[in-house]
Amino acid sequence: MHPVTGVDPKDDAYYELGDVRLVRGEGVRMWDSDGREYLDCVSGTFNLVLGHNHPAVVAALKGQVDDLVFASSSFQTDPTNRVMRQLVELTPPNLTRVNLRSSGGSTANEGAIKIAQWHTGRRDVIVPFRGHVGQTVAAAGWNGSARIRAPFQQHMPGALHVPDPYCHRCFYKQEPDSCGKLCVDRIDDFITYASTGSVAAMIIEPISGVGGNVVPPPGYLQRLKEFCVEREIVLIFDENQTGLGRTGSLFAADHFGVAPNMITVSKGLTGSGLPLAAIITEEELVGMPRNLHGFTYGSHTLSAAAAVVTLDIVKRPEFLANVRATGKVILDRLTALKERFDFLDDVRGVGLMLGVELAEPDGSKSPRLATALSKALGDLGVITRVSEHGLGNVIELRPPLILTPADAHLIADRFAEAVETVWTSSPSR
Ligand SMILES: Cc1ncc(COP(=O)(O)O)c(C=O)c1O
Repeated sequence: MHPVTGVDPKDDAYYELGDVRLVRGEGVRMWDSDGREYLDCVSGTFNLVLGHNHPAVVAALKGQVDDLVFASSSFQTDPTNRVMRQLVELTPPNLTRVNLRSSGGSTANEGAIKIAQWHTGRRDVIVPFRGHVGQTVAAAGWNGSARIRAPFQQHMPGALHVPDPYCHRCFYKQEPDSCGKLCVDRIDDFITYASTGSVAAMIIEPISGVGGNVVPPPGYLQRLKEFCVEREIVLIFDENQTGLGRTGSLFAADHFGVAPNMITVSKGLTGSGLPLAAIITEEELVGMPRNLHGFTYGSHTLSAAAAVVTLDIVKRPEFLANVRATGKVILDRLTALKERFDFLDDVRGVGLMLGVELAEPDGSKSPRLATALSKALGDLGVITRVSEHGLGNVIELRPPLILTPADAHLIADRFAEAVETVWTSSPSR
């Protein structure tokens, strides 16, 4: 409550806000106006791969501010040139060109889809169930969750939603070692009977983030790539969450050993939270005129300066090794916890992209328990999120990638404490 106006500042916001007012961040930690410390286990909005205020990013920004804050994307600048060069060098060898004219994940995804449509002359876009394409009107219309589409009048024509590789609750009631990748092969039926017959692209998060940390079984993405090649469907990996070291490889494309026709990245690209997005494409997809996809704040000079140092850091083998090691600490400890508490239905993930699925005693999904656990973690100063924008049953854990082994253990300790609290206080579990 403001002492003079008597207005609660929260009432000025169009949307609901919590009570916490953050004032400072450093690495994995942030502090509020009362001095309370938090462990940020969602890296801001899954974007701070280098944590809050990484010193290299802060120094790069300070240096760039003195020279040039902003240049239109029709000009070259040293930082934007360097980012494009690094992205070409660091992504799979078939990806040779960078479109840097978006400033966020939704518009980068839309740009990649436009490129596929422009290039193929076709229209439909295949998106797996639970896939998050973004929040702009077109991206929301393509999203693989009806909840995101439902409130709005017009859905994106040509969005084709297909079952995802969610083996834990398989759509086709199969087992991963004997299913023969039915969830790829049956896409043909969706194309034949549910599409317009004119399919341009498939866009997929190699591990779905918002959708609940769904990790595909071995061989799924390889089979999907073959499927797309056979049908001349452009395959786009949305690496907005999985990119920039999150999986312990620089890109999930490397982790799974599959090179798509395009990769989109945003979130982690600038390390500590500046807006910038990139679409990295194959040479033969070049050609869509520049004026068909570009945004004022795309190619932002200041953000590009942050991206240059971020890419220099995240590509280091020791940096990626730390992601794998600290991720393993948390994954192993939470997997051990699952043996003791029935409501922890599944613990899964790769690197520091981790998810914990909650279930009711009858095995059904439990958003109720996931919300309770996320709240109990919050009470212990551990910030997490619940999948499907708070309505799902998976706790999402994605701490900054600069995590130390000591902090990985601290997160696991607090997780165990929160699980105990929910277990003892939950009337029906
Ligand atoms: C996988 C994925 N794609 C796209 C987006 C949209 O990105 P933005 O919010 O920057 O538009 C998000 C955001 O959460 C995401 O997680």
